[in-house]
Amino acid sequence: MEHVETGHFPVLKKQVLFYINLKKGGVYIDATYGRGGHSACLLDSEKSISLYALDKDMEAVMAARERFRGIDNFKAIHSGFEDIDQVIEREGITRLDGVIFDIGFSSCQIKDGERGFSFQEEGPIDMRYDRSKPLTAWEIINRWDRNNLIWIFENYGEINKSRKLADAIIERRKAKKFESTLELAGFISEYYGYRKKIHPATKVFMALRIAVNDELEALRKGLDKAGKALSEKGRLVVISFHSLEDRIVKRYMKETPFMKIITKRPVSAEEEELDINPESRSAKLRAAEKNEE
Ligand SMILES: C[S@@+](CC[C@H](N)C(=O)[O-])C[C@H]1O[C@@H](n2cnc3c(N)ncnc32)[C@H](O)[C@@H]1O
Repeated sequence: MEHVETGHFPVLKKQVLFYINLKKGGVYIDATYGRGGHSACLLDSEKSISLYALDKDMEAVMAARERFRGIDNFKAIHSGFEDIDQVIEREGITRLDGVIFDIGFSSCQIKDGERGFSFQEEGPIDMRYDRSKPLTAWEIINRWDRNNLIWIFENYGEINKSRKLADAIIERRKAKKFESTLELAGFISEYYGYRKKIHPATKVFMALRIAVNDELEALRKGLDKAGKALSEKGRLVVISFHSLEDRIVKRYMKETPFMKIITKRPVSAEEEELDINPESRSAKLRAAEKNEE
């Protein structure tokens, strides 16, 4: 069982393989290596490809180098996919047959309390994919002003009554700063005063994570640059996990004149996959092909 070894269950593997449509001798980029589920799947399926794998998280890159040590047609690179153009230039990539994006965090990241992504694991309020960057969620929750908090709660968390929430956070941090994930999650639960089916901290943590990593802008840039860099008939395969991301993907594929959508509707996990990995329920895959003619 791959996820037992790597700590992450790759979603929609079969569908990724189908839509990426590997060509013999083709050149591919896995823009979000994670724990390499999709990379391994591509390399196992077609030995003649060259694969470059990016991740913003150095731990993921180290894991990639360890896992594929001695494999000449694979290279792991520490980079955000928003800078995919620079990677392509640096590596001298002149042909690009496909790029995969599997957006968000990996199971390894969410389960590791030290990374601060989870409201169920004790840890610092961090949430950076790239720990060499200065902005953390601690900084946002403890230091950002009211307007900025309201903005991210509304736009990244789609939270109702975000003004009141921002005010409550500001009142509380005057007395005592938020220091840990569980402390913050507990405060949010108490603030809402009841337990919904979905933990009330879900949206706040999502808003913070998106802001810390500037995720939506990174996705817009990544898609745009990857699309431009693809060779004719090159494929873009994107998996997203929430509507904010999916909207960006859908819009990019629809509105970019040289991209032709090949998934009429977003592709979701089949029952068989849902049984073994219920978290795949929210995954949506969209694919497009470059066609400049
Ligand atoms: C859902 S996981 C990918 C899982 C992977 N497909 C697998 O099968 O193991 C998403 C990964 O993307 C990385 N990531 C998030 N934003 C990124 C960005 N802007 N550029 C590159 N990697 C990013 C995260 O660090 C995380 O490791």
